[in-house]
Amino acid sequence: MNKICIIGGCGHVGLPLGLAFASKSFFVTLVDLNSSAVEKVNKGELPFKEEGAEELLKSLISKNVVASVDITQVKNQDVVIFVTGTPVDEHHNPKINEVLKVIRSYENLLSKEQLIILRSTLFPGSTELIAKELESLLGEAKVAFCPERILQGKALEEIFTLPQIVAANSDKAYNQATELFSKISPKIIRIEPKEAEIVKLMTNTWRYLEFAVSNAFYMIAENDGLDFYKILNAIKDDYPRAKHFPSAGLAAGPCLFKDTMQLSAFYENNFFLGQSAMLVNEGLPNFLVQQLEKKIGNLSEKRIALLGMTFKANNDDTRESLSFKIKKILEFRMAKVITHDPYLQNEMSLQETLNLANGVILGTPHNEYKKIIPAVPYVDCWGIWPR
Ligand SMILES: NC(=O)c1ccc[n+]([C@@H]2O[C@H](COP(=O)([O-])OP(=O)(O)OC[C@H]3O[C@@H](n4cnc5c(N)ncnc54)[C@H](O)[C@@H]3O)[C@@H](O)[C@H]2O)c1
Repeated sequence: MNKICIIGGCGHVGLPLGLAFASKSFFVTLVDLNSSAVEKVNKGELPFKEEGAEELLKSLISKNVVASVDITQVKNQDVVIFVTGTPVDEHHNPKINEVLKVIRSYENLLSKEQLIILRSTLFPGSTELIAKELESLLGEAKVAFCPERILQGKALEEIFTLPQIVAANSDKAYNQATELFSKISPKIIRIEPKEAEIVKLMTNTWRYLEFAVSNAFYMIAENDGLDFYKILNAIKDDYPRAKHFPSAGLAAGPCLFKDTMQLSAFYENNFFLGQSAMLVNEGLPNFLVQQLEKKIGNLSEKRIALLGMTFKANNDDTRESLSFKIKKILEFRMAKVITHDPYLQNEMSLQETLNLANGVILGTPHNEYKKIIPAVPYVDCWGIWPR
């Protein structure tokens, strides 16, 4: 098993995974339909920010890593790993057909000798469905589900330190997937495919619920004019059971919300706790705008600086960022919104933005913003500025 092909190989999950395997001397082909990302990767440039990845890419690209838009590269590979997106639709149901469509577009290029690994976050039952389809097409098929559980931005650290969940449609597929992942993971956890799919969904849902608890507590405290962070510090101070209590903040990004909705769909929409978490997390932007209104009055014609547009700190990824929801709410109140983010292109500098603003909302707690304190009224649910 020397040659690995990753479908979706220039994406946030596929690329770090490919680099991790290449760093262990595998020959890695990153197949991706995004031609500009492919071009960048082949020049040794990362299409997005990921700690430590650009240096590694530069050292491997002319040796044992190549990116390509040519899907026929899948032939003659020992291992084919699928890691494309798995979105939910406008009714928050998983778009299972999108996953099947991708697999089907490669079906004729796959063979029964290859180990086929599914690494996207899948709706429970998908692995079995895909394995059955491939078995009927190829006669037999070795299919494993090995979900990714990294924290975006810390992928290269976590790939090598987190245990790897491995599920498969046969012992042969399990053994081969285990042999492969043992090269990069410290520990393998075997579990059945549907259980593994649920492990991944519950892991992300757990995080989403944790943030919802903090956000709900934040709104309860601040609604009464109390300082949530003073309360949170008192809760956590030398109290071991509250050690991991997160701060409040916009719970956004491409994974937590959609995986909570996938779990809810799996439980036929009876997962009220998940739905409630969604109401809390998605309601926070409205609350933040109301807080600013309390401080500076009617927002119409006021200039509001919205600092941080990416969905997480110190990263350039804007996917499903709730800062854009805040912007919409502000604009609906006829405020003049000036956005700023150190990881994106800006109309003006941070200082110019602050000089013009009548009020500030902190969207993302980038390190750059920890060095300033706005001179005008502000709303900061992350707790980085003094109250
Ligand atoms: N981003 C994360 O931190 C993270 C963590 C764990 C799991 N996941 C899961 O991993 C999966 C991928 O997420 P991501 O963030 O890497 O998405 P992404 O959008 O960054 O990457 C997906 C890549 O697939 C490519 N692609 C789409 N269709 C293709 C096709 N038919 N052939 C080849 N390439 C194709 C896209 O061009 C894109 O580069 C999702 O299921 C997600 O839930 C993501």
